[in-house]
Amino acid sequence: MKLKNKIAIITGSSRGIGKSTALLFAKEGAKVVVNYLSSEKEAFSVVDEIKKIGSEAIAIKCDISKENEIKKMIQKTIDTFGKIDILVNNAGIVFDIPLFEKTVEQWKQTLDVNLIGTFLCSKYASEQMLKNGSGKIINISSTNGINSLSPESADYDASKAGVINLTKNLAKELAPNIQVNSVAPGWVDTDMNKDLPKDFVEEETAKIFLKRFATPEEIAKSILFLVSDDASYITGSILKVDGGYD
Ligand SMILES: NC(=O)c1ccc[n+]([C@@H]2O[C@H](COP(=O)([O-])OP(=O)(O)OC[C@H]3O[C@@H](n4cnc5c(N)ncnc54)[C@H](OP(=O)(O)O)[C@@H]3O)[C@@H](O)[C@H]2O)c1
Repeated sequence: MKLKNKIAIITGSSRGIGKSTALLFAKEGAKVVVNYLSSEKEAFSVVDEIKKIGSEAIAIKCDISKENEIKKMIQKTIDTFGKIDILVNNAGIVFDIPLFEKTVEQWKQTLDVNLIGTFLCSKYASEQMLKNGSGKIINISSTNGINSLSPESADYDASKAGVINLTKNLAKELAPNIQVNSVAPGWVDTDMNKDLPKDFVEEETAKIFLKRFATPEEIAKSILFLVSDDASYITGSILKVDGGYD
């Protein structure tokens, strides 16, 4: 087992990539905090699945765009498990809307959740990690933050470019005790993409070298690699997991 008795917080792990990561971590021996915002039933079912696997988990409702709620989630994790070894900043939102129809409120919400939420969770979790002298933080960015020409998601793309830059700054700030890296997925088969028009999905799939979207499990495996001892000399890196894309 790669994560025996490690304590991991995974934001947004009621569904999608976060859920797959929670289940994979549990199979590797981690005890998991399943964070959710609105999908309570789904979060508790992830907790049940983890218990069936033979590990431990708790579900915590926390809006990661709210600093006071993050502080409470961190405290509840410490009260329950005594420490934090791993934080996966996975929760994210997107509004696919024509660029100049986007409101200031939508811009702020996207930045608050995707970028500032990542900053705040990292700030309060790393305080606890430093007490143990070690920790791993993975920020889920996106290939949209590296090279994107999609005006409908300009706010999302800016937030993810911010997450990539923040990853490098956190890696420097928290070295040598805490390693901070980012996984940048391309297209992944999750609820986030369930309303995309069929012809758009076909056009995008044609551009992917491997000719398919990733499964959330495939993204989870790359996250596991970066939090495992196999990545002991990697920090400040951005791992693109996009199946090749032109
Ligand atoms: N899917 C893709 O193609 C793709 C590609 C590149 C990067 N990503 C990134 O990968 C991450 C996960 O995406 P996904 O596709 O798995 O998304 P998803 O299926 O839509 O799930 C999003 C998760 O984030 C949670 N969440 C949203 N806002 C939150 C908030 N304010 N506080 C706490 N949790 C919140 C949701 O919780 P509730 O349901 O409980 O509200 C849910 O668990 C995101 O950061 C996304 O930007 C996805």
